[in-house]
Amino acid sequence: MENLDLSKLPKHIAIIMDGNGRWAQEQGQDRLFGHYQGVISVRKVVEAATEIGIQYLTLYAFSTENWERPQEEVTGLMTLFVDTITKEVPDLHKNNIRLRFIGNLGLLPSHARAALDTATAHTAQNTGLTLIIALSYSSRWELVEAAKNMATKVKAGSITIDHITETTFSESLTTSEFPDPELMIRTSGEFRISNFLLYQLAYAELYFTETRWPDFRKDDLIKAISDFQSRERRFGKTSDQLLPNDEK
Ligand code: FPP
Repeated sequence: MENLDLSKLPKHIAIIMDGNGRWAQEQGQDRLFGHYQGVISVRKVVEAATEIGIQYLTLYAFSTENWERPQEEVTGLMTLFVDTITKEVPDLHKNNIRLRFIGNLGLLPSHARAALDTATAHTAQNTGLTLIIALSYSSRWELVEAAKNMATKVKAGSITIDHITETTFSESLTTSEFPDPELMIRTSGEFRISNFLLYQLAYAELYFTETRWPDFRKDDLIKAISDFQSRERRFGKTSDQLLPNDEK
């Protein structure tokens, strides 16, 4: 952690937690066992993010495409989400963590939605890390919803087409209250974004690691942040434009 420049931390880190299934199968275990081990990594990474001083952490827990997995795995995952969230809320609250959920939550069973609502309400006033769980989330779904939302407003006459800007459009996304992630991490050796925060990741630095999610720990997070800090973020400008005047 001494290697990190605390004045240059990403405010928001997003993570695609991949590799639970492969990790479990490599140990001759059932895929669900991998998801249970993945929860330990979630706990460790949330602890580490709090300690380092990250303000927003988004975890991709379940995509809309994941509904197509075998029924047994989907049911197992839903039980795992509800049980973990319910069990962890007191600890999250004690650590001043605010919990939020993004995604097409209408597709979740009603008891699961109720558990998420309770957890959200319980931690709503906390001012430390905002932990955002993407559940039943798909970025294309979110973008289409935002487009429909704006079209409805235009049709109703409450806004004109000229009111549709990058700012108002991003206010229609599920992430409207959060800054865009500056760093996106994907575990387990896949080099894809998989329908995750397509709009919000426009300028994010992408970091890929071979480490399977159940093996991902604080040191891996620090390595990713340190790699982020070594990159030059130009936002379309030239290197020279980024230098302070006295260094030119
Ligand atoms: C992807 O690995 C992982 C998931 C679909 C589930 C992730 C869920 C957890 C880590 C539990 C998190 C719990 C809470 C409360 C947020 P995969 O199964 O696609 O792995 P594979 O690519 O090796 O098959």
